[in-house]
Amino acid sequence: MITSHWILGPGAIGRLLAHSLAPLANLCVVSRRPLPIQQILTTPEGEQKVQRLDILTVEKLAEQAPVAPDAVHITTKAMAAEAALASLAERLPATTPLVLWQNGFLSQPRITRTWAGPVLCATTTQGAYLTGDDGVVHAGHGPTFIGDLNNRHGALATLLAQQLTQAGFETTAVVDIHQRLWQKLAVNAAINPLVALHGIRNGELRNASYQGQANAVIKEVAAIMQAEGIQPPGGGQGETGWLALVWQVVENTAGNKASMLQDLEAGRPTERKAILGPLMQSAAQHGLTCKNLEQLDDQLASEEGAIHQRVL
Ligand SMILES: NC(=O)c1ccc[n+]([C@@H]2O[C@H](COP(=O)([O-])OP(=O)(O)OC[C@H]3O[C@@H](n4cnc5c(N)ncnc54)[C@H](OP(=O)(O)O)[C@@H]3O)[C@@H](O)[C@H]2O)c1
Repeated sequence: MITSHWILGPGAIGRLLAHSLAPLANLCVVSRRPLPIQQILTTPEGEQKVQRLDILTVEKLAEQAPVAPDAVHITTKAMAAEAALASLAERLPATTPLVLWQNGFLSQPRITRTWAGPVLCATTTQGAYLTGDDGVVHAGHGPTFIGDLNNRHGALATLLAQQLTQAGFETTAVVDIHQRLWQKLAVNAAINPLVALHGIRNGELRNASYQGQANAVIKEVAAIMQAEGIQPPGGGQGETGWLALVWQVVENTAGNKASMLQDLEAGRPTERKAILGPLMQSAAQHGLTCKNLEQLDDQLASEEGAIHQRVL
């Protein structure tokens, strides 16, 4: 039985998860700065629901000496997950199960290696964004998959999937979470850096001026995925399969502004290290070149550097 959850990182996914789980379990949202406890969720249908959430900073949580939870969900961006966990780790029994909700493949293998307790990874297509310190909009429903990288915690994944589904996060426990994380990373790598750097909506990638560059990126990603032994979901094979999949996603999300573009526009660092980093590392291990991916990474790094300079 999972009766208590802590959610570390009160961003869009963290607050959506908190609103969803709060009616079913004891819940504490752990933040690094004070936030209002009265929180508003706007549903995909436009309905507003106000809920009081137990939101505490790490320091306040320590003062209250709470009973350890049955699971801790880490819902920060990829590059913040390890620091967030470090801020809480000494308050947790080392055997506490963690659920990592990050895109990409940066913190998941590292935390799996270093945390003594079970480490599950979730990949979700739920869509959410923040409207301030007290509001989150649930933009759209989508399936969630959960499992651990070494397939040692299937029973726990099943229990969590059942509770998340009951909470409105339609979740399936899976034995191939590693493959699913990489499949999502591949699609993200093929679309997000390009649209972020060009400042365009996903669908604009279909324009003749961007198509060639996009195809070159997808082909590099496809070669790396082939070397990793990962085929596209849905039955496609190799380069043709990845090209078809990515262009289908571009079609389905034509009006979307990628989170990487939103991050650059808001002057925040992007998740490039979690999305491009594992691909470039894999290319190096397999003796493959990935000049397009390296160039995108360099350009994103310099955009982030320019933002950093403006902030100073
Ligand atoms: N949003 C979506 O629709 C969506 C969908 C699928 C997957 N994802 C993935 O889910 C992950 C989270 O995304 P998001 O959109 O929810 O991000 P987000 O809205 O930017 O939220 C990140 C949260 O992490 C908090 N945080 C950062 N460092 C922390 C620390 N050391 N301790 C505690 N909290 C800390 C931030 O707090 P501050 O407010 O103090 O900065 C913020 O509340 C990402 O990997 C993303 O790719 C998101």
